[in-house]
Amino acid sequence: MAQKKADMGGPRHVAIIMDGNGRWAQSRGRPRLFGHHAGARRVREIVSACPDLGVKYLTIFAFSTENWKRTQTEVAGLMSLFRRYIMKEMQEFVRENVRVRFIGDRPRLDAKLRGLMDEAEAMTAHCDGTNLTIALNYGGRDEVARATKRLAQDVADGNLDPADVDEETLPKYLDTRVVPDPDLVIRTSGEARISNFLLWQSAYAEYEFIDTLWPDFTPEIFADLLKGYGARDRRFGGVTA
Ligand code: IPE
Ligand code: IPE
Ligand code: MG
Repeated sequence: MAQKKADMGGPRHVAIIMDGNGRWAQSRGRPRLFGHHAGARRVREIVSACPDLGVKYLTIFAFSTENWKRTQTEVAGLMSLFRRYIMKEMQEFVRENVRVRFIGDRPRLDAKLRGLMDEAEAMTAHCDGTNLTIALNYGGRDEVARATKRLAQDVADGNLDPADVDEETLPKYLDTRVVPDPDLVIRTSGEARISNFLLWQSAYAEYEFIDTLWPDFTPEIFADLLKGYGARDRRFGGVTA
């Protein structure tokens, strides 16, 4: 399949593993939640920077299916932060023409939070500026397992012929079905792993692992990484002409 670099050399879809909030707080002698609050403030700036930087889709990893292993205090604090964040930012997203979507397994989240997520999606459904996808209780393996379950159900119901299943089929069952694959995945905080993020979708993504902790991430750092992306040669298994 012929592929070309994204328009103007920049990535159309950037996905970010926002890591390092806890270490940022600890290095200041503060509780981990202090870092999560600082991290949440960064999200606002990065979302606002997207139109100028030519980023049409931004996906951010907010909470993984593995993050329930943390202390009850941290998990409860994060859930409360998500609720407050959505309540506070909803109007702002509409004003900035940001369309919000959530990916991840929702039933495990509390009803109040789920209600706010539905509301944010409905309120911004008409927005056609930046597409912001927030991964909340998201795990790549969990997503593929849930997708497979729905696919199997369609086969059992006689709506899908197993002979027709190919690599175009599964993505239609993923949480990300209306979002293109990420071009660039950024992880902050110096860890070089993907921690179960967008497993299927990142098959051909470019990666940037940077040492900056998420609460220190700025639109300037973001712009530099996008510039670096523009210089890369994405071959998708082919050869450069
Ligand atoms: C990322 O920061 C935010 C979430 C996982 C919710 P961390 O909380 O993982 O911060 P570190 O990695 O412990 O510094
Ligand atoms: C990945 O960070 C998840 C999020 C950023 C939400 P973690 O801090 O949970 O990942 P590990 O534990 O270092 O792999
Ligand atoms: Mg971490």
